Amino acid sequence: MNSPTLEVHLSDDDLTSALRADAELGLTADPKWLPPKWFYDARGSELFEQITQLPEYYPTRTERALLERVVGEIARSAQAEVLVELGAGSAAKTRLLLSALSTEGPLKTYVPQDVSSSALRGAAEEVSTEFPGLAVHGVVSDFTDTLRNLPRGGRRMIAFLGGTLGNLVPADRAEFLAEIHHVLEPGEHLLLGVGLVIDPEALVPAYADAAGVTAEFNRNVLHVLNSRLRADFAPEKFEHLAVWDAANEWIEMRLAATEDMTVTVADLGRTVHFARGEHLRTEISAKFRAEGLASELAAAGFRTEQVWTDDDQRFALVLAGR
Ligand code: AVJ
Repeated sequence: MNSPTLEVHLSDDDLTSALRADAELGLTADPKWLPPKWFYDARGSELFEQITQLPEYYPTRTERALLERVVGEIARSAQAEVLVELGAGSAAKTRLLLSALSTEGPLKTYVPQDVSSSALRGAAEEVSTEFPGLAVHGVVSDFTDTLRNLPRGGRRMIAFLGGTLGNLVPADRAEFLAEIHHVLEPGEHLLLGVGLVIDPEALVPAYADAAGVTAEFNRNVLHVLNSRLRADFAPEKFEHLAVWDAANEWIEMRLAATEDMTVTVADLGRTVHFARGEHLRTEISAKFRAEGLASELAAAGFRTEQVWTDDDQRFALVLAGR
């Protein structure tokens, strides 16, 4: 068996300075906000895994069933020798893709990328054991850095699954898609998994489950600020909210202060005041329409080769060619 390699481009210090910059910007803004990538320390990644098992959280199981159905077609169209998976996390649904790409295509190398080294390390090892013929090169980095250091030699497919594209605001999404287009060569592919616009009656509970796991996941960002930036947030004094923004077609997660609070963030050398009822936005999760996504892809230079959806039109897989 080949043992997996793990390249770490993000040191712990890099993470702390990136968080410091984000917290400085977001906690002094009005309204206050933080980028969603800070949910995912070891505990946050574990809570996200629990979310994917919740009855209300349909995206993961819908995407998996869809992938099961169409993965052979994807493999035959893409003919990928290298699979780069952005935001691989625990790589739970990657196995489907890996086995189709290697039985119906020429796959030799798997490059999972994630900001969470704990999630990635385990995933890389399990995949190596399961696919002994496959070279596995894990990369701990952020997306932009990964794209600049992509492996060369061998036709590549970049997979960005799970609906994570929706965590980027439209301007960042446009830049991100253009960057991917820029690093790919003709004949290479991008595979996207995105949530579709659905009835808010079904959508909102997926982000506000009855068991309160998503609430705990949301509040985890405050634990991350406490431990990484020596802040003194009392996470239990913030209430979890999931709000559908119909104009932007995205769902937002917010944390609402349940009382007046002054929080000290020691590593920023500042205090942050929260009025009772004030909101901190912690995530947007945009939902898409097939036509809208195709035009965003076209604007980045991609050709949408195929779009697959589940029978309830809740989730889509999109194969785009460079
Ligand atoms: C994995 C980032 C796509 O936006 O649905 C789950 C994260 N947030 N519940 C999503 C998440 C709240 C998830 N992504």
